[in-house]
Amino acid sequence: MKRVLIVFGTRPEAIKMAPLVKEFKKYEDIFDTKVCVTAQHREMLDQVLDFFEITPDYDLNLMKPGQNLFTLTADVISSMKPVLDDFIPDYVLVHGDTTTSSAAALASFYFGAKVCHIEAGLRTNNRLSPFPEEMNRQITGRLADIHFAPTEQSKLNLLKENVDPDFIFVTGNTVIDALLYAKDKVEEINDEQIEFLKSIVDPTKDLILVTGHRRENFGEGFINICNAIKQIALEQDVQIFYPVHLNPNVQKPVNNVLKDIENVKLISPLNYPAFVWLMKKSKLIITDSGGVQEEAPSLGKPVLVMRNTTERPEALNAGTVILVGTDTAEIIHHTKKLLMNKDLYNQMSTAHNPYGNGETSREVFEILLKLSSN
Ligand code: UD1
Ligand code: UDP
Repeated sequence: MKRVLIVFGTRPEAIKMAPLVKEFKKYEDIFDTKVCVTAQHREMLDQVLDFFEITPDYDLNLMKPGQNLFTLTADVISSMKPVLDDFIPDYVLVHGDTTTSSAAALASFYFGAKVCHIEAGLRTNNRLSPFPEEMNRQITGRLADIHFAPTEQSKLNLLKENVDPDFIFVTGNTVIDALLYAKDKVEEINDEQIEFLKSIVDPTKDLILVTGHRRENFGEGFINICNAIKQIALEQDVQIFYPVHLNPNVQKPVNNVLKDIENVKLISPLNYPAFVWLMKKSKLIITDSGGVQEEAPSLGKPVLVMRNTTERPEALNAGTVILVGTDTAEIIHHTKKLLMNKDLYNQMSTAHNPYGNGETSREVFEILLKLSSN
C-alpha cells in the first residue's frame, strides 16, 4: 500500500488540508495516510485541529514567539527528516505558500518522495508581494511532481513555467470543501465562542469584519489600515469586529490605535466555526487574507482586499473583491461606497464564487489513486 504524508503548519493550511485528511482517512485500505503538523502556528492551528477532529501522527511543535523566517525554515527542514525516515512516504502533500510548505517540500524532495502541491500555480510574479509567500509558492512549484491547481488560470501560470501538463490537475480549492462542511454546522453546534459573539453582536447595526496579517503591511501599512478603521468606526453607525492575529507585529499597532473605540471589538483569533458564523453575520469584510477572499463569495459577502497585488485574479474578475491597498483614504472611500451604494453591494454579493464546488478533496484523492496505480 502506498504511503501518503499530509504536512501543514499554519491556520489556513490546516483549514484547507482538513477536508483532504478526512477524505484520505476514509480509505485506510487504499492509502496508508499520516498527518504531520510542523506547528508553525500553535494555538491558531490547534483551534482548527479541534474543530475537524484531527489528531496529528507527528507534531513537530516548532512555533516560537516572534519567530523569524531563517530559523523556522531550517527547523522545518531538519525536523522533517526523522518523520520521513520513520514513515517513508511515497507521496507528501503540502499546501500553498507558507514556510512550512516550501521547507517541507524541499525536505521531501531530498528524501525522494513525490511532492504533491495543493493550491498550486497562484502567482503575482512579484517576488516581494506577497512576501515571502510568492517565492515560497514558486519554490514549492519547482519541487512538486504533481500540481493540484484550483483554477484554469493557475494551471496557465504553471504551463508558462514549463510544468508538464500531464501532472497539472484543475480541481478547485479545498477551502470550499471546508466551508461547506462548516457553514450549516455553525448554526447547530454548541460553541462557546459563537455564544460569546451572539452576546455582543448588535443585530440593528451593519457589521464589518476585519482581519489582517501580511508581512508586507507591517509598520506603516498597518498604521494606515488601523487609522482607516478608526475613522470608519467614528463616522459610520456600524459595528466593527476585528479578531486580531497573534503575530506581535500585528497586535501592537492594532491595540495602539483601536483599543478604546466603543464600536470596534478587538477579539482573539476565532476558531473556524465562530469565524464562519461571524462572516455570515457581516455586511462586508475588509482583509488582507488569502483564504477569506476565497470563502466570502460563497457566503455572499463583498471583500475589500488591503493589498496592492493579488495572486487571486479570479475573484477580481468575478467581481467579488476589490483591491484597495493600504492607503487610509482608499479604504475609507471603498467602505463608504459599499455601505451606501445598494447596486454595487448587490452586484458584489451575488457574484459567482470561482473557487470550486466542494468536491476538491474527492478529486485529489481520485487523481492520486489513479496515478499511484499506473
Ligand atoms: C504565516 C504564513 C503566512 C500565512 C499566515 C496565516 C509564512 C512565512 N507566513 O504568517 O503565509 O498567510 O501564517 O495566518 O509562512 N503566533 C502565535 N500563535 C499562533 C500563531 C502565531 O503566537 O498560533 C505568533 C507567534 O509570535 C509567531 C508569529 O505569530 O512567531 C508569527 O507566526 P508566523 O507563522 O511566522 O507568521 P504569520 O504572520 O502567522
Ligand atoms: N480564520 C479563522 N479565525 C479567524 C480569522 C480567520 O478561523 O479569527 C480563518 C478564515 O476563515 C480562513 C483562514 O482562517 O479560512 C485564513 O487565514 P489567514 O487569514 O490567517 O491566512 P491566509 O489565508 O491569508 O494565508
